[in-house]
Amino acid sequence: PVKKAYSIASIPADGIGPEVVEAGIEVLQALSGTLQSFDLDFTHYDWSSDTYKKTGKYIPDGGLEQLKKHDAILFGAVGAPDVPDHISLWGLRLAICQPFQQYANVRPTRVLKGTQSPLRNCNTGDLDWVIIRENSEGEYAGHGGRSHRGRPWETATEVSIFTRHSVERIIRFAFEIAQKRPRKLLTVVTKSNAQRNGLVLWDEVAADVAKDFPDVTVDKMLVDAMTTRMVLKPETLDTIVATNLHADILSDLAAALAGSIGIAPTSNLDPTRENPSMFEPIHGSAFDITGKGVANPVATFWTAAEMLEWLGEGEAAQKLMQVVENVCEAGVLSADLGGNATTKQVTAAVVAEIKKSL
Ligand code: NAI
Ligand code: MG
Repeated sequence: PVKKAYSIASIPADGIGPEVVEAGIEVLQALSGTLQSFDLDFTHYDWSSDTYKKTGKYIPDGGLEQLKKHDAILFGAVGAPDVPDHISLWGLRLAICQPFQQYANVRPTRVLKGTQSPLRNCNTGDLDWVIIRENSEGEYAGHGGRSHRGRPWETATEVSIFTRHSVERIIRFAFEIAQKRPRKLLTVVTKSNAQRNGLVLWDEVAADVAKDFPDVTVDKMLVDAMTTRMVLKPETLDTIVATNLHADILSDLAAALAGSIGIAPTSNLDPTRENPSMFEPIHGSAFDITGKGVANPVATFWTAAEMLEWLGEGEAAQKLMQVVENVCEAGVLSADLGGNATTKQVTAAVVAEIKKSL
């Protein structure tokens, strides 16, 4: 068989982003070097808050066209203490997700072997979810404005946009994911009691799309009640779909319930595959630990596995996760998981385990 080669754009960006992306690339290269079944070729882009402060731009002219040539994008985190968060987020991350129509944000969460949930009775296997977040519109559509700035009667609007087109494509995508998982269970989360326009549309579209997936069990939750169910009955959930804002919040909760935000990955997918998809740990730039060498690289390793899966290297992805879990089980854990291993020690342990067990 012809050995496939994938071209990956890496954008480490800010804070601990460069630390964890470097670790992720080291592990991916060890994996492809050991398995010998595919090649990875990385191109580095130094787009970050530093370049923004120097040039006034996160993405240089023609940058998106360059990115478009790659098979996938591995992203670190964006955000700096001296740049307002809405500037950095819209300047880099959303400036890629939105034009590339990466409308499906996929966030798998489970308790990895060798780690613990903060929930008293939640063991490996009890919490195993995939959260699907609408990633192109909704509450983060960017519609709105401000008038009468600084006056006591200042007014701001943040308008949520829900189109049948986008709601339908994300719900259909979520049904497809649910159908591929053993439990075939999809929970549709809204707040359609209070948000009586856009989210009633969600409920109606979900009921329509459900007809095409008779083998998937659908259940409905309001987002506030959903938080309690996630904490009290994690074993009753499997695949979850929600709006941009709701799923953003629920997935941070999910990561914490699974043990740490330092393990959680996310994929920003263009399911049409017209544009490259972008893979990143869900955490941000973590100013409080930047440069200390203690960031947990596991979220980026899991992110790397998700990227391989999307590229069609499912077997390699599974092996990578197995290796990561072996290392966790051996007790090589960073501080956020209750251990004392540094980023470099966790990375070295994963590389050694790849060489030993694969
Ligand atoms: P954060 O995720 O950066 O940090 C939250 C807490 O989790 C901190 O105590 C941090 O030390 C800890 N943490 C995060 N990742 C960790 C890891 N790998 N290992 C160990 N501990 C870890 O969220 P925060 O503080 O709200 O945001 C900081 C900056 O990051 C802001 O500028 C924000 O806008 C940006 N951000 C960017 C994101 C992205 O690029 N996708 C996502 C979230 C935040
Ligand atoms: Mg978030």
